[in-house]
Amino acid sequence: MEVVVLTGAGISAESGIKTFRDADGLWEGHDVMEVATPEGWKKNTEKVLEFYNQRRRQLLQVEPNAAHYALSALEEKFNVNIITQNVDDLHERAGSSKVLHLHGELLKVRSCFDEDLVLDWKKDLNIGDFCEHNSQLRPHVVWFGEAVPMFSPASEITEKADILLIIGTSMQVYPAAALMDFVKEDTKIYFIDPDPAIASSSRVKIIKEKASVGVPKLVEDLLK
Ligand code: OAD
Repeated sequence: MEVVVLTGAGISAESGIKTFRDADGLWEGHDVMEVATPEGWKKNTEKVLEFYNQRRRQLLQVEPNAAHYALSALEEKFNVNIITQNVDDLHERAGSSKVLHLHGELLKVRSCFDEDLVLDWKKDLNIGDFCEHNSQLRPHVVWFGEAVPMFSPASEITEKADILLIIGTSMQVYPAAALMDFVKEDTKIYFIDPDPAIASSSRVKIIKEKASVGVPKLVEDLLK
């Protein structure tokens, strides 16, 4: 059985990482256009670097929560593919083996000259940190207005799902939100979020709970 899991910021909220659109979310205190677009990068590179440096430093201090661990336990019985919109590495640290990052990864940087030149990066990234072609390195994160190269492999994975779990996402950002349209007609969909963005239907079972409560419970049921 193929289980595909689409996760958003809500799954990492209880680890201490702010979501984007909740009250007091990350975008509340930040202008998206300034810190998460190619134009913002051009206009004030230092500000963008500092924004992601803060996120990276924070990530190194937090831990996966019960929801991340429950998803890794799901591999005991199912072939599990996680498609995450999150740039954190909490699924990997919890032990999930197949994790596709739709929006990039905070602990990686890439060359502005060659987008395939990607490096692991755990420290601050500063102006003057160059790749081997003497070009500035940038966060390996998809910004608004940029292509989402991992969408195509993600949609192929989603097409094979027998069960789709959607966890902690406002379903407001495309193309990520469109992934649920790729499932087969008989795929069972579970949506876990305390403030779910979609309504229940014959196809979709809504579980109105925080991830750390709803995900372990559902995983226990699926493993039975
Ligand atoms: P959002 O901030 O838009 O949505 C967070 C979702 O998590 C909401 O539906 C909340 O109800 C839910 N939530 C909050 N606390 C939760 C908890 N404890 N357990 C479960 N769910 C909880 O975040 P995303 O949907 O992930 O992209 O946002 C999508 C993309 O928009 C992000 O990847 C990011 C952002 O701009 C980029 O930066 C490219």
